[in-house]
Amino acid sequence: MTLKSSRFTLFSLTAIFTITALIVSCASAPEVPEGTTLAEAYENHFPIGAAVAAGEYSFDSFARYSDALLGEFNSLTAENAMKPAILQPKKGEFNWIPADKIVAYAVDHNMRLRGHTLVWHNQTADWMFTDSGTQDEQRAKAMDSLRDHIAAVMTRYKGKVTSWDVVNEVVADSPGDSPYRTDSPWYQAYGGIGYVREAFEMARAADPDALLFYNDYSMIDPGKRQRVLDMIDELGLVRDGLIDGVGLQAHWGLSYPDRTTLRDAVRDFREAGLRVEITELDIICDEWDQELLADRYENLFTWLRELSDDIDGVTFWGVADDHTWLTDFHGFTNYPFLFDTEGNRKDAHRRVIQAA
Ligand code: XIL
Repeated sequence: MTLKSSRFTLFSLTAIFTITALIVSCASAPEVPEGTTLAEAYENHFPIGAAVAAGEYSFDSFARYSDALLGEFNSLTAENAMKPAILQPKKGEFNWIPADKIVAYAVDHNMRLRGHTLVWHNQTADWMFTDSGTQDEQRAKAMDSLRDHIAAVMTRYKGKVTSWDVVNEVVADSPGDSPYRTDSPWYQAYGGIGYVREAFEMARAADPDALLFYNDYSMIDPGKRQRVLDMIDELGLVRDGLIDGVGLQAHWGLSYPDRTTLRDAVRDFREAGLRVEITELDIICDEWDQELLADRYENLFTWLRELSDDIDGVTFWGVADDHTWLTDFHGFTNYPFLFDTEGNRKDAHRRVIQAA
């Protein structure tokens, strides 16, 4: 080979390499317009939601959220305002104000609404139960209270709240003596798990058009996942058309779950005939781990996007780092979201947009 031809070969190889690199980089990372919101970026995949506070506790306020911040999302959930203890603290005395604020905002801004929650062992109301009388009497009182509550709440928000977490967290974390959470006031009043089926029946009757969910944490854990599937099977919830899907809460960490675990969980629920939503996403995280958080969110949203045919929505359990339940729950200040304490986009936001 002459010097000239080897120079030419080198030149053309370099050119081919450069052009290929350019094509590959253009194809894998298209320019995302500055200012793209989460809702816009995931428009073709699934709604992106957030849980919001609305003044239900003295320290909360709906005014904390700017329109720009809420404009990042196209789905809302009440963080507390639709729980029985807030909505109906005394029999027949409803406190609709905080929940109504959220509903009005979502309707005005064309956002989807997920309702949370009708049956839970926490934030329930004492009047719904009695501790006197026989088991039959206690069961009757609890079911009558629940029927009235579900009818009132679901009727008020009919056509606006289009999916409901009907039942939250009734399955045990470890196999122990019972597959269920036996210390729940609902379990004790009913004398078994049958209240779950009754709650779904009440919800179907109250709003036949709403999508009805069972919501829980750790359902990516194979053991708990199986207990949930067994319960749904045993109560005939899919068979009798009473349930539409499951909500995976997704209070996750910087290194769990991994892709396979997530994918297997989604697959198992889909195979059982259920829709799947991610309902309470946040990542336990210190202030100094923000780079890891950005990596983590990019991975998670890449996997969620890959699974988007099987996932109907992804909701964060909060909006920005100024307000997260994780801080109280874990006893240290958490910075788990895509927006900082001032509501500005963090690096994690950019990475989630990239992953779309
Ligand atoms: C939490 C709220 O974020 C807190 O403000 C409240 O004090 C307790 O409840 N799983 C659920 C949610 O289903 O309802 C919980 O929300 C968080 C865990």
